[in-house]
Amino acid sequence: MSTLTTDLPPLDVLPGPAVADSLPADRPVRWGILATGRIATAFVSNLAQLPPTDVEIAAVAARRLESAEEFAAVHGVGTAYGDYRQLVEDPDVDVVYVATPHALHKEHVLLALEAGKPVLCEKAITLTGDDAADLVAEAGSRGLFLMEAMWTRCIPLVRRLGQLLDSGAIGSVQQLRADLGVHVDRPPTDRLLDPSLGGGALLDMGIYPITFAHLFLGEPSQVAATATLSEAGVDLNLAVAQSYDSGAVAALTASMTAQSPTTASIATERALIELPSGFHHPTTATVTLDDGSTETMTEPVIGSGLAHEALEVVRCLRNGEIESPLVPLDETVALMRQMDAIRRQIGVRYAADRS
Ligand SMILES: NC(=O)c1ccc[n+]([C@@H]2O[C@H](COP(=O)([O-])OP(=O)(O)OC[C@H]3O[C@@H](n4cnc5c(N)ncnc54)[C@H](OP(=O)(O)O)[C@@H]3O)[C@@H](O)[C@H]2O)c1
Repeated sequence: MSTLTTDLPPLDVLPGPAVADSLPADRPVRWGILATGRIATAFVSNLAQLPPTDVEIAAVAARRLESAEEFAAVHGVGTAYGDYRQLVEDPDVDVVYVATPHALHKEHVLLALEAGKPVLCEKAITLTGDDAADLVAEAGSRGLFLMEAMWTRCIPLVRRLGQLLDSGAIGSVQQLRADLGVHVDRPPTDRLLDPSLGGGALLDMGIYPITFAHLFLGEPSQVAATATLSEAGVDLNLAVAQSYDSGAVAALTASMTAQSPTTASIATERALIELPSGFHHPTTATVTLDDGSTETMTEPVIGSGLAHEALEVVRCLRNGEIESPLVPLDETVALMRQMDAIRRQIGVRYAADRS
């Protein structure tokens, strides 16, 4: 019996143009980890789930050598540096993973690109659209791979949903709703709350609902945002309403003051797709059709899901691609510009803002 899911084609990635020297497929891609914070820890745990023939965690750097050595000992990393520059200049590192706070991404991505290294950079790639465009131009002029670590785009089930919607089998998207929030109980100096480190719910959490909407609806024609700000001037609680030329609307929320639902739904003329808590790295979705029937779509992830973005980087580097078709750089820049516009509406400014 045919179902919505079984009618979909395999999840192959259409290779992009091979324009750079490709890495050999008969040895692992050697990763250099720049910073040793929370996400760097999660990322290397995911790398460790991948075949050693594909991935090697070659080196790690921290601001203090002791932190790097401690991280290296826990995660079995061969080389530890107390200086980010030494990491990017290590000839035994093929690709650099940047895991510092957003406000430092530009400096650290440039450090790696100037050393001739491809980069996977944590989200948000920068604080502003202009800075994101600068990084994309720099990588392009050097013929080097660059990708924002927007792992949601690489999650198999999210890609399946794209296939299902593109197939037209359930009509076009009319309403999309997505939320990501968690109560942040940290000191004001924490990167999530400190404006000098790019603090705020939008760039940390809101980026996921906004990316999700962009994946299935493209560029909005109108964006209206409202937020409550902290005394330091970062957004704590955020709501964004968007409309599209197609007639669709999206309602997106993010929070650092609430244990919010962290769910998403997509409503078309013929079906309601519901993603449970953790919508930004889902393994299941429920599709309820207009005849009342329900189907559960399931796609497992490797590790906690971060492994899929790493696999995509490995695929691109081995194919000589400087941009992933799953995480297109023009969309990364467009979304940063959309978040610039949202910040203007809610009154959040960073030192990196140019006007
Ligand atoms: N993909 C995801 O699901 C996900 C989840 C969480 C965070 N992130 C992103 O990853 C980035 C890092 O977040 P995180 O939660 O890992 O942050 P974190 O735990 O605070 O770690 C940040 C690391 O950056 C380094 N660093 C360098 N200069 C710093 C400075 N002036 N202040 C603070 N840290 C500095 C530090 O590493 P050393 O001391 O080792 O040098 C620190 O451990 C953010 O851009 C965030 O949006 C992504």
